[in-house]
Amino acid sequence: MKARVHPLRRPLRGERVRVPGDKSISHRALLFAALAEGESRIAGLAPGGDVRSTARCLAQLGVPLLRGDGTPWSAAAPAGLGPPSRPAGSAPLPEPDPDMGPDDAIVHGVGMRGLRAPAADLDCGNSGTTLRLLCGVLAGAGVPATLVGDASLSRRPMERVAAPLRELGARVRTGASGRPPVTVEPGAAIHAGAIASEVASAQVKSAVLLAGLFAEGETTFTEPARSRDHTERLLRQMGVKVATRGTTVAVRGRARLSPVALEVPGDLSSAAFLLAAALIAPEGSSIALRHVGLNPTRAGFLDALTQLGARIQLDLKREAQPLPGGEPVGDLSASAQGLRSAELDGDLVLRAIDEVPILAVLGAVARGTTVIRGAAELRVKESDRLAQMARGLRAMGAQVEELPDGLRMEGGRPLHGAEIDSAHDHRIALAFTVAALAADSPTLISGAEWADVSFPGFFDLLRSLGAEVELVA
Ligand code: S3P
Repeated sequence: MKARVHPLRRPLRGERVRVPGDKSISHRALLFAALAEGESRIAGLAPGGDVRSTARCLAQLGVPLLRGDGTPWSAAAPAGLGPPSRPAGSAPLPEPDPDMGPDDAIVHGVGMRGLRAPAADLDCGNSGTTLRLLCGVLAGAGVPATLVGDASLSRRPMERVAAPLRELGARVRTGASGRPPVTVEPGAAIHAGAIASEVASAQVKSAVLLAGLFAEGETTFTEPARSRDHTERLLRQMGVKVATRGTTVAVRGRARLSPVALEVPGDLSSAAFLLAAALIAPEGSSIALRHVGLNPTRAGFLDALTQLGARIQLDLKREAQPLPGGEPVGDLSASAQGLRSAELDGDLVLRAIDEVPILAVLGAVARGTTVIRGAAELRVKESDRLAQMARGLRAMGAQVEELPDGLRMEGGRPLHGAEIDSAHDHRIALAFTVAALAADSPTLISGAEWADVSFPGFFDLLRSLGAEVELVA
């Protein structure tokens, strides 16, 4: 599918807009609920393909889980995927609840020992979080399985999880050059240990901590800088003792998880595209977003906006109910305004790692030279995001230099319409859609359907805010 995005001719306007549920929290909510003892209810899950991949894999592992309205997780799955196969003799599915919708879930947790070996490979689709977190759980639980992914995921590095899990006693095999498929082999017993990681990564940290929950004693994970802490927050909420000392996190096993009822906050990473669109749209534009997750280990984008000279309104909700998984939430709004250049690096960039593509767009529009560094991890995301952003922005007439770990933009030049390929990467499709709104002629984005991985309905939402976007086969 292609999206033809026209330059904005009138202001973008939206009030009380809800963005999809947070993808990172949604994966964890489903996965941890599956390991809990009893029924969890989760509202407002991320509706995109990635979280469906997690749900489908859990069904294959014998976890009874249901979309709130009773429709199967396959209903909107990528073409060709039928309902997930549940192992013979799995416990019955929960009853649908008339008060719940398709983005809500009921999960009958099977406990730490209740997962079954799947009959077929676990297909994690495009989702690195699904593959890496599940790998930790399966290694800890001693459940043999092979985890596979689509073309993009099959190019991503997996030794970063496999190696520490081996240090804890697991037998984990990766494919050529340390990429998927990843196989957790039977017959190994996990033990507690102290893991030091060369990369700051919440996925690696979560895989290790989850494996540690199954081992007797304390397992620690130390990383060079502190990555997002959704795992720590939700595990605590589910009754697990989690200690944090600097960039080290410790869990104590053998753990038991209590079920939860939680509402997933909106995804700041999705909100970022709308805030950015409002900032660079014609004068008079403004967009107000409700109930967005504002976890400080994730909110580097807001600090980056401050450095770019943008004024954003933030209204933190102190007592959100039902509980959002131990996560701070609030309302955010932005209106059109001029931006200045900034130098973005270090901890801020780690806390905005998924927002670098849209920050690059803002850097190309802002006056002066904007430099983003410390973003080498972008080369191993769903695509090489530094290369894709440099290529696409140049095609639109921006002056961009690709650095080994970042980008340098000489901003303030007009952007022109161009032909852009999403490279199987949702954030590339979304970032260039926003860039296209600020260009002086239409932009054609191919592979626009990849936006659905994190933000289904993005193009319709933009249209409802005043943008002109046509979807063509
Ligand atoms: C995620 C962690 C980050 C992030 C990804 C989601 C998570 O990846 O880029 O989109 O949910 O734990 P890394 O752990 O590879 O840094």
